[in-house]
Amino acid sequence: MEGPYPFVAMELLQGITLEQLLMQGPSLTYNQKWELLRQMLEILTILHKTNVIHRDVRPGNMLIQIDGVGNSVKLFLIDFAFSVGLWPNHLPDLPYLLTHPQYLVDLGGANYKPDQLKWDDAYSFYRSALMIDSNYENLFPELWNQLFSSINKIIYSHQ
Ligand SMILES: Nc1ncnc2c1ncn2[C@@H]1O[C@H](COP(=O)(O)OP(=O)(O)O)[C@@H](O)[C@H]1O
Ligand SMILES: [Mg+2]
Repeated sequence: MEGPYPFVAMELLQGITLEQLLMQGPSLTYNQKWELLRQMLEILTILHKTNVIHRDVRPGNMLIQIDGVGNSVKLFLIDFAFSVGLWPNHLPDLPYLLTHPQYLVDLGGANYKPDQLKWDDAYSFYRSALMIDSNYENLFPELWNQLFSSINKIIYSHQ
């Protein structure tokens, strides 16, 4: 956090983004769709427990590994560049963002946030999941309801 360019380091992953997978990958099986939704909820639970709001959850920021043999899938959330933390995990907005409102308007992508200056990772996962299958609600109602009921619980708004 010191110095002009705070950074987050993470391990180098093999895999492709969910965005790439949806554009050019093999179509996902029923089990893989279930796994992806389950893992989205798992990641969301960690974010909510730690009071971290990622703010840029969308298919381009999810890396997927598909195991060629068992066809199992593993989902990783990447790109924490714009995440903020609420008490007690204090991680404020970067100063340059506060003086450049246009970056904030663009951050997260209009389709994946509830409002221009409001971020809700649960909402973003919900919108991302719909890109995988618009019928998720009927395929896996229990998981879907869990995700849906997490919306609007932990949000970050910019005044
Ligand atoms: N931990 C990682 N392991 C492997 N590839 C990564 C990792 N983090 C990012 N990438 C690759 O780099 C691209 C850009 O990274 P990202 O952190 O999303 O930055 P930005 O979107 O701000 O350019 C990703 O789409 C992904 O292809
Ligand atoms: Mg990114």
